[in-house]
Formats: sequence, structure tokens, C-alpha cells
Amino acid sequence: MAKYILSIDQGTTSSRAILYNKALQVIACQQQELPLNYPKPGWVEQDPEQIWQTVYHCIIAVLHQAGINASDVAGIGITNQRETTLLWHRATGKVLYPAIVWQDRRSSKQCQQLKDQGLDTLLQQKTGLLADPYFSATKLAWLLQHVAGAKQQAENAELCFGTVDSYLLWQLTGGKVHATDASNASRTLLFNIHSQCWDDELLKLFDIPATLLPEVKDNAGLFGLTDSKLFGAAIPVLSMIGDQQAALLGQACVSAGMSKSTYGTGCFAVVNTGENIISSQHKLLTTVAWRLNGNCTYALEGSIFMAGATVQWLRDKLGVIQQASETEALAEQSHYQQTELLIPAFTGLGTPYWQPEIKAALFGMTRDTGRAELAAAALCSVAYQSRDLLTAIAQDGITVDSLRVDGGMTANRWYLQALSDLTQTEITRCHTTDATALGAAFLAALQLGYFSCLNNIEQIWQAGWQFQPQLPAITADGLYRRWQRAVVALTTLDL
Ligand code: G3P
Repeated sequence: MAKYILSIDQGTTSSRAILYNKALQVIACQQQELPLNYPKPGWVEQDPEQIWQTVYHCIIAVLHQAGINASDVAGIGITNQRETTLLWHRATGKVLYPAIVWQDRRSSKQCQQLKDQGLDTLLQQKTGLLADPYFSATKLAWLLQHVAGAKQQAENAELCFGTVDSYLLWQLTGGKVHATDASNASRTLLFNIHSQCWDDELLKLFDIPATLLPEVKDNAGLFGLTDSKLFGAAIPVLSMIGDQQAALLGQACVSAGMSKSTYGTGCFAVVNTGENIISSQHKLLTTVAWRLNGNCTYALEGSIFMAGATVQWLRDKLGVIQQASETEALAEQSHYQQTELLIPAFTGLGTPYWQPEIKAALFGMTRDTGRAELAAAALCSVAYQSRDLLTAIAQDGITVDSLRVDGGMTANRWYLQALSDLTQTEITRCHTTDATALGAAFLAALQLGYFSCLNNIEQIWQAGWQFQPQLPAITADGLYRRWQRAVVALTTLDL
């Protein structure tokens, strides 16, 4: 009898397939890196075919690694990089343009116009989001305006819009299902988080025909069956959920007030707010955590665009390291009080600044500045940004004394101690860095009846490493004020 659960985690820089047993222990795992393309300054794209092919090959490889057949898999859970925008032909599945990745800034002018028209408040009220190119709506509007014939074809109902979850579901079901889930829909700037429907007024504002949109489903349920030609048997897709919301669940943050921070390509601190839609006064986002049986759990989120991606920049563009893990030993040769300070605004700044056009800067270099200082500056920059998020969360009335963390960067102990020191917060890394994949697998397992309720995730979650602040608060506060002054200096520079 089929008993395994397959979790697909399609992230910004890699695709993974993780196979779990009924108790949600990892049986096998496969990963493939995925390149990003930067055709113009501020533009970030990905090849949709590569997104799909890396997922497909990871699934084949993980089944092979575990020595099982597709018919042994009881269900699939999908979790994904959010907001990334795709457009494809309903009849053929052919995409019209590369995927426009969430980090892409090409629609920042349109967002500025929306702000100038005072529409930020309306957007926040309806969607919980802000006028920023991060979200899907202005990316989709750009595609309809710039891809020849797209607007007309959209009006003729010949095209499908989707974020990566929808696109993968479409591919997995052989073009049979065009659907998304409430957590991913809530990142598009087109979805009303109160009514749980696509919002007509917003569709009009962004000039987007409703025929393009996927059906919005709960996060657990039967989304469709995989085309049996793909893996040799039809596997039910039983959950879909945006990666940050999945990590919130994987970190067992199932009660209001619990929070996690995931350090992947970017960093996303998310607080469960239960049934309450809290409208942030400090530029956090309000988002759907998950919707089950029609009932929504909401969250507040702070979003940082460059976390692990800053370390990748050291590796791929500067060549100062060969592997991300080298930053740990390098940073140990430096210290927080070093003069070098990096503001990694390579794709603008997210929460709480929301400055899409600002560019990165490195302050305080001397003749002595070398690889160790660059590594420490990169890691500290993520910790300072995390403090920005925790400060905004505190200003909105939620105190986070203890933060659960996960994601690739949390393999780095120096970074986690720096995070604890510079934010003056207790840090707990859970037993797995893969809380995201676990969250999606858990929802599929819930649907299969392997677990009876959401709280059962607490039986699986275990604390791993823990870090307490060792730096005096007065020193940490002083260093953070320096960071804040540097950000102000950068945002007021007019070069
Ligand atoms: O909102 C973007 C986010 O979903 C990307 O996640 O894991 O690729 O950093 P990640």
C-alpha cells in the first residue's frame, strides 16, 4: 500500500524533492541548483522549463534513491518560492516569457505611481501587502503590456497566469489543473484576504483579465493527479503552500504569537496571528498562513530580499569563497565591531524600508579589508536586517523573545551566534534545516489522515541548536544604531 509522502520544495536557487515516511522522517532527498538570469539592471528572470525539469529530475532521482515506485507514494505536497510570475498558453502549456522572479524590480516605477496616487492604503486594506515590485500584480501587468499579443490572448481566455505552485501543478497534471492555494494567492496583490476571492477592483486597477487567474483552493485537499506518463503511476497532489508559510507550519508555530525566521535566498520572519488580520502600522505584510476547510489562519511577515543570496554573491561574483560554508571559518577571524558594514540592497530593500531602487553599498573599508571582513560583513548584514524585522514586529505589539530559525544559512554557527548577539534574542534552530518541505509534507499527511489535527506537528518538531546573546545589550544596541545610520545615509544619497 502506498505510504510515502513526497515533498517538492521549489526555491529560488534550487529545487528539491524530499521523501518522508508516514511518521514524517526523511527517507531520501535530492536537490538541483537553479540559475537566475539578470538581463538588465534590476531584472531577475528564470527559465520556466528549467524550473520544471529540475523538479521532475529530483522526483525521479529521489524515487530511485529510495528504491521505490511512484505507486508507493501516497501523496505529494508542493511548496515554492512565492510571487514569481509565469504566463503560459492554456492549449499548449508553452510559456510566453521567462519567469519574472520575486526579486525583480522592473515594475518599480508603476509601484511609485500607485504610491503617489495614495493607493498604498487601499492595497494594504484589501491584500495585506504594499505597492512594491516584489509582488506578482505589477509583474503580470508588465507581461501583458510588453509581450506582443499577450493582452488580446488573455482577453480571449487563451492564457494562464500562475505563481510557481500553479505552474508545477499544471505540469504535474499534464495541463489538466489550473489552481493555486490561498497562501500563494495572498502574495499576488490581486487577492482579497478578507473575502478570500480575487478582487475585481484590483483586477481593474492593474488591468488584468479575470480569465487568466487560477482557482484558489485550501492548502490541503485533492489538487489533482499527476499524469501517469510522468512517473509511471498517478500520484495525488494533496497540498500546496508558499514556502514561508510552509516553514511556519514546519516549525510548529501553530498558535497565535509563535514566530519563525527562514534564511534561504532571502529571509522571512513570520508571526502566526491566528484568526486575526492584523494591519501593520510598521510596514510588515499581512498574509494568509494557511486555509484549511475554509478557515484561515493569518500571519504578519517581514521580508528581506538578500540573505543566503548575499553569501552567494561573495561566492559567484567576488569569488572570495568557493563554498558558502567557508564564511564560518572566515568570519571567525573577524568581529562585529569591524569597520566594514555591508548594506546588501542588491535588489532594493524590503521591510521596513520598501525602497526598490536603492543599490547595495559597503562602508568602512581600509587597506586591511579582506576576505574575513567581507564574510563577517555579509553575515552581520543579515543579522542587522533581522533586527529591523523584529523591531517592526515589536512596534506592532508582538514581542519575540525566542525565535525559531531554519534554512540553509542556519548551518552556520557563527552566523547564528551573531544573530542572537545582534538581535539580543534567543535563537533555536530546529532539528531540520528543511522546515519548509516538512510543512508541505505535513499538510499532505494531514489530508491522508496520518495525523488528525494541525497541533500534531508539535510531535515532530524538535529543538536543535540553541544560542543565547553573549554580547552586552549596550554594545549590540550601539552596533545596530550604526547600521541604522548607514541605511539612512544610503537612502538619502543621490548619486
Ligand atoms: O517571497 C519569496 C520567497 O518565497 C523566496 O523564498 O526560500 O527562495 O528564499 P526562498
